[in-house]
Amino acid sequence: MADEMKTHIKSNWSHAILVCKKCSRKAKKRGITFGKAGKTLPKALKAELGTKKGRKASLGIVEVSCLEICPKNGVVLVDSRTPGQWRLIGPDADMGELARQLQNVEA
Ligand code: FES
Repeated sequence: MADEMKTHIKSNWSHAILVCKKCSRKAKKRGITFGKAGKTLPKALKAELGTKKGRKASLGIVEVSCLEICPKNGVVLVDSRTPGQWRLIGPDADMGELARQLQNVEA
């Protein structure tokens, strides 16, 4: 008899942030980076939030495939707390403020 597979895994995530991977890649090709260290949006967010990796993090940053918005100079981001209101993050985004907004559990 095979071992039974778990059907639930615990996570510390309060919510998830979905970031379009293709937008991030396209932005990087155009020389658009985020944060002081000039990173892609997901990496800049993780650095700004200082989160742990994977399910140990307090908040999930998940790179997803194209969300079919495809802005020219930005990256599409979806906060799982507000799935009806997607965000377009431009190159001039204040990473500190964005991180605070995404991390705020009251939002
Ligand atoms: S490339 Fe990001 S929404 Fe299409």
